[in-house]
Amino acid sequence: MLDIGCGAGKLCCIGAASRGGTWHGVDRDPALVQAAIAAATLLDLQASTTFTTGEMEVVDWSSFDSLYFYNPFAAILFGPAPFPKSVRWTMLTEQIARTEAHLAELAIGTRVVTYEGFGGDMPDGYVLTQVELIRDGQLALWVKQRSRRRVRSSSGSGQTAAGAGQRVTCSASSTS
Ligand SMILES: C[S@@+](CC[C@H](N)C(=O)[O-])C[C@H]1O[C@@H](n2cnc3c(N)ncnc32)[C@H](O)[C@@H]1O
Repeated sequence: MLDIGCGAGKLCCIGAASRGGTWHGVDRDPALVQAAIAAATLLDLQASTTFTTGEMEVVDWSSFDSLYFYNPFAAILFGPAPFPKSVRWTMLTEQIARTEAHLAELAIGTRVVTYEGFGGDMPDGYVLTQVELIRDGQLALWVKQRSRRRVRSSSGSGQTAAGAGQRVTCSASSTS
């Protein structure tokens, strides 16, 4: 699992301690990454967690089968960065577009979990398979499916395709 914008490593540490697997976090804030490494060390989770400081692209997304986004770009609008509002909106739009483009390139079967989304739309082929309400936020699981878009062939036959943000089934539960 790759946690994009991992902050102080909450998800990675809790996931590794409770579910096993291997967890990697990337965050542009070096202080938060240091905190994540310290937490993982204290919890003796170094074998199953790793963390990288930098922009989200310093890690190769395609080497993970699952990705997690906890609304990582909202801080651009509301955080302490010393930019005027118009610049913040441009930065936000650009980050969201980059994320959509990267997600579009990932392999069939890739799972993407979002908590309160990432600000953009899931690209074609991602199907929303599960939703849970946690406190006031929405935790969603998207799975990239093989394209079933209708494609016209010369014989007139075709296939169907999963469209952008297609919702196939949706089980919602509240834990609050
Ligand atoms: C809401 S916090 C999520 C914290 C963490 N995922 C958790 O579950 O506790 C969003 C984080 O995304 C990071 N972030 C925002 N844009 C980023 C980018 N382009 N590359 C790397 N990290 C980014 C911020 O520094 C911030 O720590």
